Amino acid sequence: MEKAIIVYGSNTGNTETLAGALAEELQSRFEVNVQNVADITPDDIMAYDLILLGSSTWDDGELQEDFQDFYEEMDRLDLSGKKVAVFGPGDSSWEDYCRAVDLLEEKSRELKADIIAPGFKWDGDIDEEAIAEIKKWASKLH
Ligand SMILES: Cc1cc2nc3c(=O)[nH]c(=O)nc-3n(C[C@H](O)[C@H](O)[C@H](O)COP(=O)(O)O)c2cc1C
Repeated sequence: MEKAIIVYGSNTGNTETLAGALAEELQSRFEVNVQNVADITPDDIMAYDLILLGSSTWDDGELQEDFQDFYEEMDRLDLSGKKVAVFGPGDSSWEDYCRAVDLLEEKSRELKADIIAPGFKWDGDIDEEAIAEIKKWASKLH
């Protein structure tokens, strides 16, 4: 079975909830590991076939704070041959809506990853609809 890692950074638990829903959807097809970005380094993701990166956006379009060092340290990786997709919650009343998703996608592309789906962005509360939509998104990841 292919291996997937879901790396999330979350201040109030929303990205963490999305990560959990993703894991539920993927576990029948992948051996899934869910990790808080604060607990790992970029090198740890290299053992996986599918890499899902999840960050909320804060203040002026910033990555969630635990993701900031990880993002900088990602520069040493070569993600050729790795499948990557990015997700994150945000709030469209902010100017830089879900900018963290775009930042992580751009970075992964620079590092030569194969971006296998457009980033999943969710506006507002993580309710049942959000969970259903991210599971639908995950069902298309292969
Ligand atoms: C002070 C503050 C700043 C925020 N800035 C942004 C932003 O620039 N863009 C955005 O899309 N969402 C922004 N948000 C919304 C959060 O990204 C959103 O609440 C998200 O669900 C938090 O996820 P987390 O609990 O996983 O950290 C902001 C929220 C707060 C409280």
